[in-house]
Amino acid sequence: MDKSFIASEDTHFWEKVSGTPAANVFISIFNAIQEGIEIVDRAGWVQYINPAFTAITGLKEGDRIGKNIFEVVPHGPLVKVLKTGTPIFGEKMEMKDAGIDIIANTAPIYVNKVMVGAVVVFQDVTEIKKLNAQVRESKGKIRVLHHKLSKVATAEYDFDDIVGHSFPVRQSLEIAKRAAVTESTVLLTGESGTGKELFAHSIHNVSARSNSPFIKVNCAAIPENLLESEFFGYEKGAFTGAARQKVGRFELAHGGTIFLDEIGDMPLPLQAILLRVLEQGEVVRVGGTESIYVDVRVIASTNRNLKMLVEEGKFREDLFYRVNVINVEIPPLRQRQDDIIPLADHILKQTNRKLGKNVEGFTEQALKSLSQYNWPGNVREMRNCIERAVIMAETTLLPEKVLLSSLSGEPDSGLEGEEPVALDVMEKELIRRALNRFGKTVAGKKKAARALNISLRSLYNKINKYEAP
Ligand SMILES: Nc1ncnc2c1ncn2[C@@H]1O[C@H](COP(=O)(O)OP(=O)(O)OP(=O)(O)O)[C@@H](O)[C@H]1O
Ligand SMILES: [Mg+2]
Repeated sequence: MDKSFIASEDTHFWEKVSGTPAANVFISIFNAIQEGIEIVDRAGWVQYINPAFTAITGLKEGDRIGKNIFEVVPHGPLVKVLKTGTPIFGEKMEMKDAGIDIIANTAPIYVNKVMVGAVVVFQDVTEIKKLNAQVRESKGKIRVLHHKLSKVATAEYDFDDIVGHSFPVRQSLEIAKRAAVTESTVLLTGESGTGKELFAHSIHNVSARSNSPFIKVNCAAIPENLLESEFFGYEKGAFTGAARQKVGRFELAHGGTIFLDEIGDMPLPLQAILLRVLEQGEVVRVGGTESIYVDVRVIASTNRNLKMLVEEGKFREDLFYRVNVINVEIPPLRQRQDDIIPLADHILKQTNRKLGKNVEGFTEQALKSLSQYNWPGNVREMRNCIERAVIMAETTLLPEKVLLSSLSGEPDSGLEGEEPVALDVMEKELIRRALNRFGKTVAGKKKAARALNISLRSLYNKINKYEAP
C-alpha cells in the first residue's frame, strides 16, 4: 500500500461527521438511490456503501467497510481520483470482483478546500451491453439476409428480352421505360400470355430499386383466406397453426418492388386493406398491433377489365385510381402481325438452348401458318407450340405439319348437331376435360385455367361449386 496517501489533513474527519443529523440525512438519501455508491476516506478506507451497491454487485457491507480501496481495487477509479484529485465521468469498466460491467462517475470530496475522500456512483450496464451486442449481431444478420434476399428475389428479365418490332408494342415499351425510372405505380394490362410479367421484371430492373428485392404475389393463386397473411405476415399465435411469426410479402419487398399479379382477382375485403397500406406506407401483421413502415414500389397486372369490374362493384374504385397511375397496355399478338416472325425466331433460339437442340428455323409454309394463326393464347401459346414442335422435330427446319399439330387450336366443342345443353352443365364438362388434359396438380390447374381463359381463382371457385354435393 502506498503510505503517502494515507496521510490526511484530518484523519478523524469521517469519525467526526458520522452520526451527525446532516450525515444521517445524506445517508437516507443515498440509501434510496438506485445507483451503486461507495465512499472512501482520503486514505482509501471504505466508509460507506449503499444498498444499491449490494444489489448490483452482490458485495455486502462486511465485504467492503473497513477495507482499503488501495488493496481491494488498486486500479479502480477511486484510487485514481484519490491520487489525482480530479473527477472521472462516464468511465466504462468491468467490476471484476462482482463480474459485471458498469459505468461510473467518480469524484473527490473536498471540505474547506481539503480533499477528505472520494465517492463513486455507478450503474450496472451488463444487460445493456448484452443487448447492444445482440443488436449488433442482429444488424449483421439482417444485412446478410437482406443481401441474400435481393439475390434470390430478383427480376430475371429486362427490356432486352422483350421482342417488339410492331408499332403498338414499341409504344407500350416507350411508356414502360419512361415509367420505370420513376417511383410511380404501374398497371400492366393485356390478355393472358401477352408478356405482362416480362414487362414487370424489366421495369424493376431498370429502376433505382433494381438491387433490392422484386417480390411477386399472384393474387389469383393464393387461397382467399390466406391472402392477408401472405401479404402482411402474421404474429405467433394469430390463429391456430401460427406457431411462428411470419414476415409478409410487403415487408420482404421493403426497399424494392412488389408485383401484384392478377390484381383483378383480389377479394374486396383485402382490397380495402391494400388501399390503406398503399396510402399509409405501413403494414400491420395479422394478429399484431405494431405498424411496420414499408417502402415499396407497386407494379400491378391484370388480364381483366378493371374498369368493368369497378362498374360491377367487384373492384374498389379508389383502389383502381390508386393503382392505375401509369397504364401500360400490352396488345394481343393478333394485333401485332409484325412481331410474330421475330418472336418465333427468338423463342426458337431460346428453346434450342433450353433443350440442347439445333433446329435452325421454319419452312416457308410453316412461317406462313404462324403469321396467319390468330394466337388466342398470345406469346405463351407460341412458346408452348414451338417447344412442342422442337421436341417432335426430326429435321433442321420445322415443317408446317409439326407446328400445326403442336398448336392447341380452338377448343373442339364436340357439340355439333347436339341438343342445346345447360350452360353450367357445359361449363362443368369443359372444366372436367381441361383437368383431365392438364392434371389436377396446382401446375395442371394453372394450365387448365389458362386454356379456359379464366383466372385460377375462378377455376378453384368453379371446381368447388361443381364438386359440392
Ligand atoms: N415481347 C415478348 N418477347 C419475348 N417473349 C415474350 C414476349 N411477350 C411474352 N413473352 C413470353 O411469353 C410467355 C408469357 O409471358 P408472361 O408470363 O409475361 O405473360 P402474362 O401477360 O403475364 O400472362 P398471364 O396473364 O397469363 O399471366 C413468357 O414465356 C414470356 O417470356
Ligand atoms: Mg402473368
